[in-house]
Amino acid sequence: MSGNRTILRAAEIIKEGGIVAFPTETVYGLGADAFNPLAVARIFEVKRRPYFDPLIVHVAHPADVKKLVKEIPSNAKKLTESFWPGPLTVVLLKDENIPDIVTAGLPTVAIRMPNHPMALSLIKESKCPIAAPSANPFGYLSPTTAEHVRDQLGDQVDLILDGGPCPVGIESTILSFLEEKPRLLRPGGVSLEEIESVIGKVEISPIEDDRPSAPGMLPRHYAPRTPIILNWNDMNLDIYKNKKIGLLAFQETKNHLKFHSVEVLSKKGDIREAAANLFAAIRRLDALNLDLIVAEPIPEIGLGRAIMDRLRRASGKQFAGPSLRSE
Ligand code: TXA
Ligand code: MG
Repeated sequence: MSGNRTILRAAEIIKEGGIVAFPTETVYGLGADAFNPLAVARIFEVKRRPYFDPLIVHVAHPADVKKLVKEIPSNAKKLTESFWPGPLTVVLLKDENIPDIVTAGLPTVAIRMPNHPMALSLIKESKCPIAAPSANPFGYLSPTTAEHVRDQLGDQVDLILDGGPCPVGIESTILSFLEEKPRLLRPGGVSLEEIESVIGKVEISPIEDDRPSAPGMLPRHYAPRTPIILNWNDMNLDIYKNKKIGLLAFQETKNHLKFHSVEVLSKKGDIREAAANLFAAIRRLDALNLDLIVAEPIPEIGLGRAIMDRLRRASGKQFAGPSLRSE
């Protein structure tokens, strides 16, 4: 089947109430018709995701948002005009027609327009917005290749669209517009700097804030099986002398010898490249049956903030310090 025919087949499956894994620029999603509660329920089952954790609704055109929400605040409009299609999710007051299962009964809905031709065609051909979380079992790392999805969810999904590796590699930035000032709920593929350059300062939710409205921001999330630690510089690695330790290095490192295995996220120290490689690199280390993964800190500028957020959650660290800001 040619690529286009596969997308048409995938759209038929969505229309019939099935579930399809599809690529976006951030990570692979597991999608269903957002207006079909039974189809959406299957996503929760397959992911073993708690029903209190709401899904993002994906649209193919900015104009589609109007039908899903009560109103679009001007800052939300400015941001979607600047960054859609792209890795930005806006949380707005929802219209009643959205099934409660999608939003976990919240009065709000998270919406984004992905920047990936396959995702956009799928939504257009399905003729409905697509509710989709990342296509991984709950609490585990998001998939950035079709193979990751196949390995973990394989026969439980009706079809996996293969669009190769996701170019951004880290989930979308989530901003809520419920309060007077926009609030960053999850750092992601659009950096805080980029957002603030358009709408000025935003509030930042600290990582320990695990309000039930956003369980994906739970402190332990995006986690591999192998323990990850971040602050290993201060630690005497000799304690682990007889253990197998992997290193997740930001850039080219001289530390190779001390470790059983090393993954370099970006040889030249490019943060975007590091984000694109992050989850696949952690997965490779996780497959080696190591006793421990130590992760090198990454400068918290641009996408570095989202990378460090995911590393902290993967390490189960309970707090990020006084604030996520590096200023
Ligand atoms: O890049 C992405 O955002 C990917 C791709 C597939 O679009 N999706 C993704 O979905 O990461 P998921 O479900 O893995 O993470 C979405 C996060 C969850 O933490 C969820 O709690 C939060 O968004 N969320 C969804 N609706 C929300 C709402 N109404 N209010 C607050 N948080 C919400
Ligand atoms: Mg997820």
